[in-house]
Amino acid sequence: MRVLVLGVGVLGSYLAHSLLKAGNDVTVLARGKRYEQLSDDGLAIKHYFQKKTTVDRINVISELKKDDIYDLIFVVMKYNQLPSALLTIANNLSENIILIGNNANPKRTEADIQKLSKSKKKIGFGFQTSAGIREDSGQVISIHGKGNITFGDSNGDLSLEETVKKAFGTHYKVTIEKDIEAWLLTHYVFILPMNSLLYINDFNAKKISKSNVSLNKMVEATNEGLEVLKENGVDIIPRSLGKLISDYKKLYFLLMKIYFKLPMNKFVSGGFDEIVALYNDFKKLKNNANINIYNWDNLEKEALNKHQKSK
Ligand SMILES: NC(=O)c1ccc[n+]([C@@H]2O[C@H](COP(=O)([O-])OP(=O)(O)OC[C@H]3O[C@@H](n4cnc5c(N)ncnc54)[C@H](OP(=O)(O)O)[C@@H]3O)[C@@H](O)[C@H]2O)c1
Repeated sequence: MRVLVLGVGVLGSYLAHSLLKAGNDVTVLARGKRYEQLSDDGLAIKHYFQKKTTVDRINVISELKKDDIYDLIFVVMKYNQLPSALLTIANNLSENIILIGNNANPKRTEADIQKLSKSKKKIGFGFQTSAGIREDSGQVISIHGKGNITFGDSNGDLSLEETVKKAFGTHYKVTIEKDIEAWLLTHYVFILPMNSLLYINDFNAKKISKSNVSLNKMVEATNEGLEVLKENGVDIIPRSLGKLISDYKKLYFLLMKIYFKLPMNKFVSGGFDEIVALYNDFKKLKNNANINIYNWDNLEKEALNKHQKSK
């Protein structure tokens, strides 16, 4: 299959590697320094758990022409960066577009692309279970298991399902989610308090693991965020996560305490701009819900104040 990965950072690099491994004809689109690194040195990934490094020679482009057609285009970037890529996606005549990563409003993203596009597109959303950092050299340290994306189509029409599954082959798990919008909203409500706490504490996860007060605030904030979603008629998906917070708060607290102790937490990307964009989109849901979310508001305020001062 002819596949393009647009955005070759931490997640896009591992995604491109996985698609290559599955036998696809993969091209990556990168800009600036990243374009130079990939053209000169290839796609270098240190696989953290697997204790191995791979370097793939890969087709690299810096511009997408209108008639450069791919069977699938994966767009893998931070939520705040998406607007910068919408025209590129819309102007190209490829039909199948999959957006990977956090997204607070998949319906709006889809509508924006369709509105700008000259041709009708099939648009799906997904989330890849991996993490990591990109070193100055361009090498990505990727933390991943066997390889897995949760994928769905915002209209609940899973017409892209077969194409996506075919592209990944058998080495990589594609989990189909019927209500990907609810899944993505639930996900970002979980990560906002977590990432805010990390940011406030200069990404010192060990320090957080030792502070029961901070961890408690984070758990309460997450619970409040989920209440906002529910007030807006959004299902909490996966349901097990919702249950974990509503019925087993203490267990979630303990899991987070252990999670922040894990050595892999030193490989957490340091940016906060995406979180700011996600908080901005949460405002509307918050106003609609009109409930008291004291812990959420305090955590948000502290993190955004710090971010403002850093500018
Ligand atoms: N990193 C993690 O550990 C992790 C874990 C879980 C989830 N996620 C989520 O996964 C998503 C992707 O994150 P990431 O960490 O892979 O981001 P990233 O490392 O910052 O990579 C994004 C890439 O997209 C490129 N890009 C942005 N706008 C572009 C444009 N208009 N044209 C061409 N390239 C463009 C960036 O270029 P430059 O190199 O020039 O900036 C960068 O290489 C996010 O939603 C993130 O929250 C990340």
